[in-house]
Amino acid sequence: MKFGIPAKSALSLPSIFDLCQWLVGAPACHRRFIEGFVKPRPGERVVDLGCGTGASLRQLPEGISYVGLDLNPHYIQAARAQFGERATFVCSDLVTADLSEFPPFDLAISVGVLHHLNDAQAQAVLQLARRVVRPGGRLVSMDPCYVQGQHPIAKFLLDHDRGNHIRDAEHYRRLLASHGTLETRVFSDMLRIPYTTIVATLRFD
Ligand SMILES: C[S@@+](CC[C@H](N)C(=O)[O-])C[C@H]1O[C@@H](n2cnc3c(N)ncnc32)[C@H](O)[C@@H]1O
Repeated sequence: MKFGIPAKSALSLPSIFDLCQWLVGAPACHRRFIEGFVKPRPGERVVDLGCGTGASLRQLPEGISYVGLDLNPHYIQAARAQFGERATFVCSDLVTADLSEFPPFDLAISVGVLHHLNDAQAQAVLQLARRVVRPGGRLVSMDPCYVQGQHPIAKFLLDHDRGNHIRDAEHYRRLLASHGTLETRVFSDMLRIPYTTIVATLRFD
């Protein structure tokens, strides 16, 4: 969310980011996303594209092999400090990331990231996901979404988000559909504040 430059830079600090996420109810949202849509099975390999401080990892069961990537070195440092040996964290721009050192993943997840990327950057990330996830595997993503007639507070928050590329559902679908078999759902009850979110599941054939 961007309420002026100071608030924007404060959110790049891991502790402030995590506090704001907790205040709006993000942990329950991540849980619902993981349990309802990602549904990881024991032993699966998961790559988290734009992992932040590792919030999704908190909701993943033990026995999952996890690699998280993020551009923000402070988030990556905080994630490494919290999760240690349980996971691998890589500080990298997703648009240019090279994950060839890792064996294929069963699942890619991306929470709150596509709306930070313009269409060309988002396509590069979708191509990355397609390259690193095995055939038959999935990318499951969640992002804020414009909806006709949405709650004015939700619209205000989206208009002032740090990400400059929040789209409507149709635009997200156009972005994703050419990469595989796509299912999307729009929710207005993922957070404890008025907010509108799209969850997309993209299966790579
Ligand atoms: C709204 S935060 C979500 C973080 C995390 N997925 C979560 O659910 O808490 C968006 C994240 O995307 C990361 N990000 C944005 N653009 C990126 C890029 N080009 N490459 C890697 N990470 C990026 C930001 O650093 C930030 O951590």
